[in-house]
Amino acid sequence: MAVKNELLALLEASRGKVISGQELAQRLGVSRAAVWKAATALRAQGVAVSAAPGSGYSLLPESDFLSQEAAETYFAPPKAPVRVLQEASSTNLLAKQWAIEGAPHGSVVVAERQTQGRGRLGRSFASPPGGLYLSVVLRPQRAVGNPVLITAAAAVAVCRAVQALCGIELSIKWVNDLFLKGKKCCGILTEAGTGFENGSIEYIVVGIGINYRTRPEEFAPEIRQIATALYPGGAAQLPRLQLAAAIYENLLGAFERLESKEFLPEYRARSLALGREVTVLAQPPYTATALAIDDEARLVVKKQSGETAVLSAGEISIRL
Ligand code: BTN
Repeated sequence: MAVKNELLALLEASRGKVISGQELAQRLGVSRAAVWKAATALRAQGVAVSAAPGSGYSLLPESDFLSQEAAETYFAPPKAPVRVLQEASSTNLLAKQWAIEGAPHGSVVVAERQTQGRGRLGRSFASPPGGLYLSVVLRPQRAVGNPVLITAAAAVAVCRAVQALCGIELSIKWVNDLFLKGKKCCGILTEAGTGFENGSIEYIVVGIGINYRTRPEEFAPEIRQIATALYPGGAAQLPRLQLAAAIYENLLGAFERLESKEFLPEYRARSLALGREVTVLAQPPYTATALAIDDEARLVVKKQSGETAVLSAGEISIRL
């Protein structure tokens, strides 16, 4: 590993602590001048490294550089390969390709920005730097039941991690849009690959896009009114990779316990739709009242005609 990367790994593992140039030089087996050179190179790359003369080196609290070294600190011990990229077309596309090549259960791709971020229903997902974009490969050991259950479990996994680490309470708009103060701050896209011969699901890719520090002006004008971020334009409260690792842990746990459906009460409690009038964006759209989320995470609505419909896919809009 290059000195620069070794230095980054050491500083990430000792976040909040100042380490003297001499100690770093000893631990890395290089000269103090080489440590200084490596720190300068890291800074040039965008890593916020401080070097107080006479005291030592540390990562500044706002340092939030997505690096392989930081991932190894937070995704520890690694259960499966983690890939960190500065730019991806779409982490879901990469994860699907990786799954086809045999990536094991739990493999994860994280990117600083996406050039072709994908949303649900064929839409694009704006993915400027400062967001958190990750995709996880899941390999089901048995039949997974209704796919909407996985998406719902993923939504709860993200809410739990955000609440635990950021202290922010998110709401869920069925199926998988996460909202903060009436605006969307996270979208989830779940895709699957099936075996040609028996049609069984070989892999699932859960892609999560969180507007983390995204500034309002980074959103396209048409979504500025309806989108927000956890910390709009602000300094990172915690490294995104730390949040990514917590989401990942929650997601894998929820997937293992999928059959128990333990996440459903929380999914319902966080629901923005329940008890409200919603517009079901079908062809043609219609107005209905959201009555319940059933045990398959489907939305049960009552149409104005009095007729009941059970939705397992699609989209609703809610006037918030
Ligand atoms: C939606 O709101 O329509 C779903 C958006 C999902 C976006 C995430 S970002 C990480 C992953 N990669 C993608 O291309 N899409 C998902």
